[in-house]
Amino acid sequence: MEPASVFYHFSVQTIRVETPSAKYDVVAGSGLLAELAPRIERAAGRLPRRVFIISSPEIWALWSGEFLRSFREMKVDAPVTLFLPSGEPYKTLKSAERLTREMVRAGGDRSSLLIAFGGGIVGDVGGFVAAIFMRGIPYIQVPTTFLAQVDSSVGGKVGVNLPEGKNLVGNFLQPRAVFADIGVLGTLPDRQLRAGLMESIKAGIIRDRGLVRFMEEHAEEILRREPKALERVIAASVRMKANVVRRDERESGLRMILNFGHTVGHALEQATRYKAMLHGEAVARGMIAALYVARRRGTITGGQMERLEKLIHRYGPLPRLKVSAGRVLAATGSDKKNVGGVRRFVLPVGIGDAGVVEDVTGAELEAAVKYMLVRARGQGPGARG
Ligand SMILES: NC(=O)c1ccc[n+]([C@@H]2O[C@H](COP(=O)([O-])OP(=O)(O)OC[C@H]3O[C@@H](n4cnc5c(N)ncnc54)[C@H](O)[C@@H]3O)[C@@H](O)[C@H]2O)c1
Ligand SMILES: [Zn+2]
Repeated sequence: MEPASVFYHFSVQTIRVETPSAKYDVVAGSGLLAELAPRIERAAGRLPRRVFIISSPEIWALWSGEFLRSFREMKVDAPVTLFLPSGEPYKTLKSAERLTREMVRAGGDRSSLLIAFGGGIVGDVGGFVAAIFMRGIPYIQVPTTFLAQVDSSVGGKVGVNLPEGKNLVGNFLQPRAVFADIGVLGTLPDRQLRAGLMESIKAGIIRDRGLVRFMEEHAEEILRREPKALERVIAASVRMKANVVRRDERESGLRMILNFGHTVGHALEQATRYKAMLHGEAVARGMIAALYVARRRGTITGGQMERLEKLIHRYGPLPRLKVSAGRVLAATGSDKKNVGGVRRFVLPVGIGDAGVVEDVTGAELEAAVKYMLVRARGQGPGARG
């Protein structure tokens, strides 16, 4: 039983993640930062002598006071904070090398614990550093973007980019716990929130009709960041991912459905050199392309397609696309998720189910990308094929 004096009575939800390699809790709710140290101690068994925090300077400037308070109250050695500058250009082996060297110099050893406190980049690099430092130390995710709270902090994919492509070096290492504090989202730019919500729409479309409906009916509250509404969306998204990862930790089958919208989404990001749009925004466009293929194949109806497109746009605006169909199509060819040249594609089946197909033709893909580009230019539903 929890001693009442340690934990305040904020609303939180706990989602259990169980994979072949690990079991841990994702705790989502308000006020978690204020009680982080005792919660981490409970999740990790104890607080080791050396606790490292990897964060970005911006997040640390905003939230370090609140973050550190509970460590002071526990009267443990102050954690050592290491910084990763914001942005994909720093999600590199070079950053990981620098961070591990700083950890050695600050007295880190195999008993150390790492906390990744930031968005998906900090989480991916932090988890990667935990995976390679002294052959692996435990780590905790404290995600601060909506995308990281609903998606990237859960499931244990960690890694960095190469100049040749995104996330090409990495591993699977599950965290000991994830603490997603909704309060931290208070400083998140609106565009980042909206982009992250696209991953929740994805979660709903592939696995959770109830979430789709909730996001349709409560868009205003969600976008106004009402804690109850956000908590509901975060918990449902995490539960969905936990269920998928439990059955397929290393993406040999089912986990691929999490890539719904990502084949064309990644191609868009690559074709625009990761500069024109946020990941979630690219996924939103990619989902529209995938919906088109699904509609043409009859795995969703015209009505369902219209409904889902409307939902995606409700959480926009999406930035304009200044890229040709040819460039996007060329970029789909180098998606690392293509096994042996097979173009893997996730198609929704109705609302709340999805499957992976490997026989999407070049012509289908071209039609889908063209449809997506036409829709991005704001032309009406009459453009539908
Ligand atoms: N491991 C996975 O399963 C997985 C899944 C999806 C995405 N990812 C990765 O996640 C990364 C994208 O993550 P992201 O969307 O969180 O972007 P991000 O980590 O770049 O964060 C976005 C920006 O928001 C700022 N920020 C973060 N939290 C803030 C807060 N609370 N208040 C104010 N500003 C804040 C950051 O400093 C940054 O500038 C990509 O590298 C992607 O590959 C990983
Ligand atoms: Zn994604």
